[in-house]
Amino acid sequence: MTFSRHLKPCLLLSTALIAACGESAVEPPEVSSGPEYNLTLNMTDFMNRVLEPSADALWRSAGWVLDEVDGYYELYPTDDEGWQRVENQAAMIVEAGNAMMLPGRALPQSEWMTYSQAMSTVALTAMQAAREQDEEALFQAGAQLYSVCTACHQAFNPEILSRFAPGSLAD
Ligand code: HEC
Repeated sequence: MTFSRHLKPCLLLSTALIAACGESAVEPPEVSSGPEYNLTLNMTDFMNRVLEPSADALWRSAGWVLDEVDGYYELYPTDDEGWQRVENQAAMIVEAGNAMMLPGRALPQSEWMTYSQAMSTVALTAMQAAREQDEEALFQAGAQLYSVCTACHQAFNPEILSRFAPGSLAD
């Protein structure tokens, strides 16, 4: 397990520092060796620039909207190209889950890994739904994705929950 490697230095230190290690757990642990990942983007940038745009594109393609002028209309893609775009966005989210687990970016708690992996798994389901042009399955995958985002935010940064809502639900 990757995170246990990061926790070890804490265990070697005095009790006072163990407490300090515990308190600073919201920061990714320092990584002293290993491949040169480019971790310039902090978590805020990662969320806003990498993950959120793909997730929003997916949510905007799954469901229905009630419009005062047009009544109900569907958000689902209407041609092969549209479905292909949704599949591509879902693929980005599969890989975003991996990128969140990079040493130096991942937080040391095991839940971080669980939620990141769950995000990739759900995004794979969304990819399959898009490939099969299955509206119901895409809608379900979109809802599951939202649950994973929310569960991780709840665990690691509850205050962002109030600011965060998927585009298609917020509109
Ligand atoms: C493994 C945990 C985890 C998962 C999964 C996760 N997030 Fe986040 N997210 C965070 C953390 C931690 C922050 C707080 C980052 C910070 O310090 O600004 C955050 C913050 C955000 C923010 C606010 C950024 C800001 O401006 O402060 C948005 C938007 C966001 N996430 C979108 C998403 C979406 C969309 C998903 C799902 C597709 C998602 N997140 C899944 C951990 C996660």
